[in-house]
Amino acid sequence: MTNDELINLAIEAREHAYTPYSHFKVGAALLTSTGKVYQGANMECSSYGMTVCAERVALLKALYEGERKFEKIAIVGGENRLDYTTPCGACRQFLADFGVDVEVIMAYENDEEIASKVFTLKELLPEHFEKIGG
Ligand code: THU
Repeated sequence: MTNDELINLAIEAREHAYTPYSHFKVGAALLTSTGKVYQGANMECSSYGMTVCAERVALLKALYEGERKFEKIAIVGGENRLDYTTPCGACRQFLADFGVDVEVIMAYENDEEIASKVFTLKELLPEHFEKIGG
């Protein structure tokens, strides 16, 4: 699956966002090492801090289905926005628990173009927390 294909699935996922408070819709598409894609969108709560980001919705769906290895994740926030949406620290840590070589594709699309830039989780979360042993 190409990065552009994954970005388009993130754009599609963004339509599923529930954002009555921020009105900022985010979509994510997570590719597993077995070639499956799990889509997620942000889900907000009236107690704002309980909001769940698009990335974690995608990850939790995948984990529930038994997936544990991931290749890349595409993230697209806002509509007709001119800047990248970068994953929050909590999502970086949650993803990093399953490997820091995962590629994180940040993208935005507007009437003119689809732009993207790619990092590894290792770059985005250096010295990440890792629980060793039981
Ligand atoms: N949000 C995400 O879903 N992913 C990110 O990477 C950053 C922020 C959501 C949380 C909230 O619903 C809205 O964007 C505004 O912060």
